[in-house]
Formats: sequence, C-alpha cells, structure tokens
Amino acid sequence: MERVICLVIGYVFGLFQTGYIYGRMNNIDIRKHGSGNAGSTNALRTMGVKAGAITLLGDCFKCIAAVLVVRGIYAGSHAAILPLLSLYAGFGAVLGHNYPFYLGFKGGKGIAATGGMILATDLRMAALCLIVFVVIVAVTRYVSLASLTVTVLFVVELVIAGQLGEFAMSQAHLFEMYGIGVLFMASAFFQHRANIKRLREGTENKIGSKKKEK
Ligand code: G3P
Repeated sequence: MERVICLVIGYVFGLFQTGYIYGRMNNIDIRKHGSGNAGSTNALRTMGVKAGAITLLGDCFKCIAAVLVVRGIYAGSHAAILPLLSLYAGFGAVLGHNYPFYLGFKGGKGIAATGGMILATDLRMAALCLIVFVVIVAVTRYVSLASLTVTVLFVVELVIAGQLGEFAMSQAHLFEMYGIGVLFMASAFFQHRANIKRLREGTENKIGSKKKEK
C-alpha cells in the first residue's frame, strides 16, 4: 500500500508543470510550439534561456520534493526500504509530469524529473549522469539522445550501486528497485518515440537550431 501512496504523492508533485505555467504567464501554450513538449528543452527552444532554466529547475525540484516528502513520512516506519519508496515517488512524479490529468494527459517527457530522482538518489550518480549528458549534447547537440542515454546509465548505476551494497536492502527489494529504474528508462523511451524516429532518420532537432518539428 505504501508503494501506491508514494506513487500518488509523486504524481501530485509531478502535476506542477513549470514550462506550461511559465508559458501561460507569457501567453504561450508551450505544447503548441516547437516539439510540443512541455519540458525544459522545448521551453528553451520556444521561450529562451531563462524559461528553459526555470523549467529545468522547477521540474527537477518537484521530483526531489516528492522524494523528500516520502522520506519524511516513511523514515520511521519503512527505513529499510526508503530508497525503494523514494524511487516510487520519483516515478510517480514522472507520471504526473508526463500525463497531467488537467492538461488532457499531455505534458513533458520526464527527463528533468528523472534528473531530480538521480540527484535525490546519489550525488556521485548524478555527477556522472550530468557529465555524460553534457558531453553528448556538446558533441551531437541532440538533447534527446543525451536524455535517453542518461536514463540507461541510471539503471546501470542503480544495479552497480545495489550490488555493491550501497542501499542495504534485501535482494528482492533491490531487484524491485532495478525494475522501477527500468520503468524510468522505458517511460523515457516511450515519450521520446518521435525523437527516436527523427534520430534514426537524421532529422532530429539540434539544440540551438531554429528548426521546429512536432
Ligand atoms: O527532455 C526532453 C528532451 O530529451 C527532448 O525534448 O522538446 O526536443 O522533444 P524535445
């Protein structure tokens, strides 16, 4: 039951659509511009650096906030599986971000929220993910490719950290944790299916380019 509660708490936090709200304050529906994504990449693309930075921070922090709330609630009663419950909260935040009921379930792609989850999990993991992300964007200028790579790296990091005993949980709970990590990754690939098609066709939008495609 606590897992469902964590998912719901995360979903509620994930509903805070930073890019959409910022856009509305500037009379723009971000979902009708650029890639149609309500996340930070499209905020940057359609509204500029300030909008992109605010959206990135807001979407990242809402996931961290959800994780902190869950840790506050369950630190006493479920201390042994807090890392696992945190992942449920983070995945709930990704679902809330990607599928906000009040916007017709059309939100973002959950990468900034996943970034918040990685930050909340382990600073070393987050640092490595950030480096990989920045290098891929710098070399290819494909944010989508960098985003997808980081979600794969997050799963690899979870498995390595888990098997090295970083989370101090039973094997069953560890495997459950890896499974949630795979859900983060699968959700990102699903949300990026149009990006993946464009990447394969060589037509994906590059950061800094004026080209705009759905
Ligand atoms: O985080 C989303 C990014 O990976 C791709 O965004 O707007 O280019 O589809 P976008």
